[in-house]
Amino acid sequence: MKITVVDDYHKMSEVAARMIVSQINEKPDSVLGLATGSTPIGMYKKLIDYYKNGEVDFSNVITFNLDEYVGLSKQDPQSYIYFMYDNLFSHININKESIYIPNGTAEDLEQECKRYDVLLERFGPIDIQILGIGVNGHIGFNEPSKDLVLRTHVAYLSEETRKANARFFDDISKVPTRAITMGISDIMRAEKIILLASGKSKAPIVKRMLETGISTYIPASILKLHKNVEIIADKDAASFVEKRNCIA
Ligand code: GLP
Repeated sequence: MKITVVDDYHKMSEVAARMIVSQINEKPDSVLGLATGSTPIGMYKKLIDYYKNGEVDFSNVITFNLDEYVGLSKQDPQSYIYFMYDNLFSHININKESIYIPNGTAEDLEQECKRYDVLLERFGPIDIQILGIGVNGHIGFNEPSKDLVLRTHVAYLSEETRKANARFFDDISKVPTRAITMGISDIMRAEKIILLASGKSKAPIVKRMLETGISTYIPASILKLHKNVEIIADKDAASFVEKRNCIA
């Protein structure tokens, strides 16, 4: 696990976007694993800029999103599919047929999870998986728990996560209680994983993730078992980390 500490959110976004651009330029039909939340928004903005400057072509790229709320339709501004179109897909030349996001309104959710894993098998492995981190250490919606689920599944959101995500909704009662998320094994199969962390609110969990061993109660700590993980954290998010503990 490598950690790169950069000055601020702007720099974190730029470094991550540059890595994605290099990946696509090297392999135009790259498979990207994408995340939502406020952390990657700056990176998506940068990618749009690079696309507009002619530095990257998304026409052969395939994307898989990590997760989607159960019950929110694609017209709902809080759904992750809406988020992705709003923040990235509507502004680049990606083929809309190559965009995969779990369908949170599927009638049969179990079937939808299976369908997603079949697609991941078919088009994977993911070349670069982008991750944010929840304040409780979740990745995707893999919440702290005694057992972590390996494949795509319906997850119940913890109260901590619902509280953290309530800022995007009118009030906490509107935050869905369930989501479809890629599982830990789906994430770990990626060739490369980039975890982004920004801001003081992430400082305690970034420290715990790096300085605790491996615990299912800190899902992001599992990433220590992956051979190619890079954490890009801004100074605030890395402010509690003691340097000697950074490399796993
Ligand atoms: C959500 C998403 C995660 C994301 C996390 C952190 O719960 N499911 O994929 O990493 O929020 O969000 P933020 O970047 O807004 O802190």
